[in-house]
Amino acid sequence: MATKGKTMNILITGGAGYIGSVVTEECVAAGHNTFVIDNLVSGHKWMVHPNSEFYEADIRNTPVVNQILQKNRIEAVIHMAAFSVVGDSMSGPYGYYDNNVSGGLLLLDAMRESGVKKIIFSSTAAVYGEPEEQPIEESVELRPTNAYGETKLAFEKALKWFDYAHGIKYTILRYFNAAGASQRCGELHKPETHLIPLVLEVARGRIPVLQIYGNDYPTKDGTCIRDYVHVRDLARAHILGLESLEKGSDVYNLGSGRGFTVREVIDAARKVTDRLIPVIYSDRRDGDPPILVASPAKIIQKLGWTPDYSDLTSMIESAWKWGNDHHHLAKASGEPRW
Ligand code: UFG
Repeated sequence: MATKGKTMNILITGGAGYIGSVVTEECVAAGHNTFVIDNLVSGHKWMVHPNSEFYEADIRNTPVVNQILQKNRIEAVIHMAAFSVVGDSMSGPYGYYDNNVSGGLLLLDAMRESGVKKIIFSSTAAVYGEPEEQPIEESVELRPTNAYGETKLAFEKALKWFDYAHGIKYTILRYFNAAGASQRCGELHKPETHLIPLVLEVARGRIPVLQIYGNDYPTKDGTCIRDYVHVRDLARAHILGLESLEKGSDVYNLGSGRGFTVREVIDAARKVTDRLIPVIYSDRRDGDPPILVASPAKIIQKLGWTPDYSDLTSMIESAWKWGNDHHHLAKASGEPRW
């Protein structure tokens, strides 16, 4: 049963990915009918919710997207399919523009063609660049310093004009750093580039040492500060975002409002895992802003969102617990890249 509002037919792009699979769980729990499209470039078929209809396809495959939208009478799209690794976007911007901008536009135009008027878009803190003001409010100037953030901003801007021209209402959620896991789904990329899963792989002994990218940032211990938000809290915001579309389009930060340095994350992981976690310092990673901390005031006030798992320890604990099984799950899935 839906907790609030009517049951909807929702297409979730990227629903086989880390965040997408948890968002699908929340949609199912809220009573919605879910349909997932994912090309499985980085997603996992076994993470797709069993109650969802799954289409293994690319969002740039317009005939298939049109068919999915029309056949299933889709009423809203949660658009999460994208490339999202900052470093990769700096070495290969074409793929980021192709997937995140061109792919997004093709999807949006298919929605227009099929009369789908609601979209929730996964944007990113990377649209802000390196603002001096922290915590960051939605109103600060948008000046991305990496290609990834630039592609997400380009799609944010397209949404504004598709609303103006075609009445497609949007909620933009600018994610800060997703962390943790649900019972069934968690963070699993190959290759992995994200801090928490890598730290935990070092704790498990599968990677010998964690590289800390830069210790000369203007922060208390010289390492970058990020705002970690539990993936389940993050997922719940999508349901609130859907319900809010009746009131019109808007944009929200999605972070906990608290920043932790890379070294603080490692220390917390040492406590959770009771393992040593050796580290070495290396050069800064291209495109990394020194500090990204959200002001979540707007989403708290306007959508009534509150994080249930805001402390770093519980995020790392859930990731640790889930990850202790993930290689087994991934291998058992028969996916070629494992
Ligand atoms: N880091 C290390 N060593 C590693 C991996 C990461 O020191 O092995 C550092 C990074 O330099 C960064 C911090 O840990 O300072 C967090 O890095 P992640 O790769 O986990 O996450 P990012 O902050 O780079 O990026 C994530 C998402 C982006 C999003 C961004 C917004 O992947 O999509 O958060 O803050 F844009």
